[in-house]
Amino acid sequence: MNRLCKIAIISKTVVPDVAIIDPITTTTMDSYLTACTGMDALVHAVEAYVSSANSPLTDLHALEAVRLLSDNLLKAIAAPDDIELRDLVMRGSMSAGLAFSNTSLGAVHAMAHSLGGLLDLPHGECNSILLEHVMAYNFTKEPERFGSIGRAMGLELKGLTAIEERQAVLGGIAEMKVAAGISCSLGERGVKTADVPQLAANAIADPCMVTNPRKPVQRDIEVIYEEAL
Ligand SMILES: [Fe+2]
Repeated sequence: MNRLCKIAIISKTVVPDVAIIDPITTTTMDSYLTACTGMDALVHAVEAYVSSANSPLTDLHALEAVRLLSDNLLKAIAAPDDIELRDLVMRGSMSAGLAFSNTSLGAVHAMAHSLGGLLDLPHGECNSILLEHVMAYNFTKEPERFGSIGRAMGLELKGLTAIEERQAVLGGIAEMKVAAGISCSLGERGVKTADVPQLAANAIADPCMVTNPRKPVQRDIEVIYEEAL
């Protein structure tokens, strides 16, 4: 394990008993921080919904979070002083939290933790860059679940073939990320091809990888990082 490593602490004992959800506290965030943290919440919802530890109860919270965030995040970025939009985004984040506190997460978070530790990159930005690439890797394992995520995002998937549905869902995620203002690649953030083996080794050892729907080997993770470069 490299010493520049961000370690996720996952335990029932760090789950809060009470959470105060106050959107006023988010009004001082600039638009890029709103985008990165909002997309992070969307990743929480997506990873919870396809987690190998999902359940009917966590599914309800995860899909509600996808709906709330898809409907309101871009509007909240465009109207940063609209407290009702901030509230809807925050409720989306809370629903995603209720889901992933019980399902854990997946490869997006495992890989983002590795980037944050080795290269000190922002968590939400890393997750946003990686999401579509990890979804492309995971899609074949849970095609129906990814279709449900697409429908919760409001995408019109009726009548599409399986291949078209995959393209539409991955395209919808990529479009939302860019519309939120996150258009950089990992390469533009200073990640080099030479960093990839160490990043992948740390990601494979991250506890979030345990509940990813597919069980990757290190080379799979290296390829995903390379695609996001
Ligand atoms: Fe996160």
